[in-house]
Amino acid sequence: MPANPAQPDINPIFFCSPTRIMFGAGVRTELPPLLAQLGYQRAAIVTDRFFSAPGRAASELVDGLKRVGISSVMFDGGLPDPSLELCDRASAHLREQGAVDCVIAVGGGSNIDLAKVMTLTLTSHHAAAHYVGKPRLDTKPLPLIAMPTTAGTASEITPGAILVSGDGQTKVAVMDNELRARIAVIDPELTLSCPPRVTADAGVDALTHAIESFITMDASDFNREGQADPGYSGRNALTRIFAREAIRLCFAHLQRAYRCPDDIQARTGMALASLYAGMSYGNAGLHAVHALAYGVAALTHESHGTTNAVMLPYVMAELAADRMEDLCEIARMANVHHEPHSSLKGAAAGAHHVRELIRSVGIATTLAELGVTAPDLGRVAAAGIAVTRLTKAFPGGQAERRYLEIVHAAFQGTLPDA
Ligand SMILES: NC(=O)c1ccc[n+]([C@@H]2O[C@H](COP(=O)([O-])OP(=O)(O)OC[C@H]3O[C@@H](n4cnc5c(N)ncnc54)[C@H](O)[C@@H]3O)[C@@H](O)[C@H]2O)c1
Ligand SMILES: [Fe+2]
Repeated sequence: MPANPAQPDINPIFFCSPTRIMFGAGVRTELPPLLAQLGYQRAAIVTDRFFSAPGRAASELVDGLKRVGISSVMFDGGLPDPSLELCDRASAHLREQGAVDCVIAVGGGSNIDLAKVMTLTLTSHHAAAHYVGKPRLDTKPLPLIAMPTTAGTASEITPGAILVSGDGQTKVAVMDNELRARIAVIDPELTLSCPPRVTADAGVDALTHAIESFITMDASDFNREGQADPGYSGRNALTRIFAREAIRLCFAHLQRAYRCPDDIQARTGMALASLYAGMSYGNAGLHAVHALAYGVAALTHESHGTTNAVMLPYVMAELAADRMEDLCEIARMANVHHEPHSSLKGAAAGAHHVRELIRSVGIATTLAELGVTAPDLGRVAAAGIAVTRLTKAFPGGQAERRYLEIVHAAFQGTLPDA
């Protein structure tokens, strides 16, 4: 990946994003007229009880749609980390209320992922499990409109939905570019009510997406398995622009959004960070941090953000030699590496800075703090290796050996000197 702008980045670009993005404080009120203009007549709203309460976003939306002549039905039983079974129940509930021509998700990544799979199950009558791990969908999804209320997952612009499978332990993916939202409505005002814990978890998820995709495998090395329409395809010139900006925004706004929940500037900064990180990772893809985080989540039942956060600095440190230039660039953005040339110490400084940022928003920085014990470490590493759709993009190679090193470092809290 050339650092010199005189040398063009020769990585191939396969870039896919939602058809429309609306971003800004208050922009949610402009959705109903747009949907009327686009000819929609009856929407299914997928949300949870927080947002269906009077005066909150989903109930506001029902009124707004009514005013422009669009009727709606609602499922407000969304839960954190939704399961395939919840998706089937929600779909059956809404199907009984008649056909719809679009699905609108209101909520965090959990509600958006649930709604994403329901764009398939609402019309097909297949169980959600039918779509897991399929390289191509055999159902045309209903158009999805996604209105995120957290700043982190960027599920509103990505091709994937993550649900919990029947055993209650494993997270499985339904993925296709056809699942990307038609309209992403990103209104930072909706994140003002996020409690600090949710702000921190979602915010470090965005930071992880940005950094992990910034240092992932080059597109020219990525095995697209012959796909001309891949969901993920490795980093390229376009994803790098978004990743860089997302990292900068997280460094500038995460702590403030956590400490001052009413600060709309910080909330806007994090909403933009999440969007940019999604534009990057939703095309470049992810690797070791998310893969290992799934293993940690299965063991500890900690949130998606926390389980990513606890792995991120140690994956950065493990890749210090493989991705020295990129990690030093991150350290320069954080103002912790001032020299023009890159070095292993500079790369380590970036990892230390990220760990301190995670600690400052109240998240554990070692696996031991999450209650993981030494005998669990082999299981966590093996679970990460098993997520082949992510692990195949680990840029350093030798994933089996190196994932074990990463989990040992994360257990003990070992980072190289900066
Ligand atoms: N599809 C993707 O591309 C993708 C990417 C990353 C993560 N995910 C998934 O997203 C989920 C995590 O999503 P998340 O971090 O957005 O959290 P979440 O959706 O699980 O929400 C966490 C909690 O915060 C509450 N909440 C959300 N917004 C709120 C607000 N504005 N005010 C008050 N409370 C609010 C929710 O009701 C819930 O109780 C995980 O299941 C993860 O696997 C998906
Ligand atoms: Fe994530």
